[in-house]
Amino acid sequence: MLETVKGAIFDLDGVIVDTAKYHYLAWRSLAERLGFEFTEVDNERLKGVSRAESLRILLEIGGIEAGETERMEMTEAKNREYLNYISKLDPSEILPGAKEYLQTLREADIKIALGSASKNAAFILSRLGITKLFDAVIDGTKVSKAKPDPEVFLAASAALGLEPPECVVFEDAAAGVQAGKAAGCKVVGIGSPDVLHGADRVIAGLDELI
Ligand code: BG6
Ligand code: MG
Repeated sequence: MLETVKGAIFDLDGVIVDTAKYHYLAWRSLAERLGFEFTEVDNERLKGVSRAESLRILLEIGGIEAGETERMEMTEAKNREYLNYISKLDPSEILPGAKEYLQTLREADIKIALGSASKNAAFILSRLGITKLFDAVIDGTKVSKAKPDPEVFLAASAALGLEPPECVVFEDAAAGVQAGKAAGCKVVGIGSPDVLHGADRVIAGLDELI
């Protein structure tokens, strides 16, 4: 499957870098302040989805209703705590094999895009020193529809000048796998086959592909 693709589109959080744990910690402290427990199992539902949609799911789990202004304050507080974590990110937190695999693809003339829901993506890539490895960056500042909507991957394949079936998406989130398939791309899930239904192939990490 990977032999025939012309483009590779990478999710960021949980695929290139282990920021998924910081998203979880920041949402968990918000849940604690609101008085309910937020588990790692619950957190699977937040992976890959936008900040606003994540809050909607979190409040649903806690059975909490909040108005527009309160919701805005909550997402801002979560992002402040998250930024506090990621401002200390360094290249040692790039997931095993990710940088090497990006370099291997470049040497093979495969075009590379980022396809992330995060509005912090450009900052994270620069902290990790890998911005230059991407031909295109499509992130939460450029798309309006959250995964599982295919918008981010359609925009990423277009930015590479390719058709979606010519591209392979790498995703750690169930919503992201669905988005990649809905876009018409091939999808490699990174993580557990129990969570990543529908992926064409599931691997434990990008180091498996080197
Ligand atoms: C995705 C993460 O990559 O980005 C989600 O998997 C996160 O957990 C989303 O909510 C939005 O990120 P940010 O950085 O804009 O809050
Ligand atoms: Mg992810």
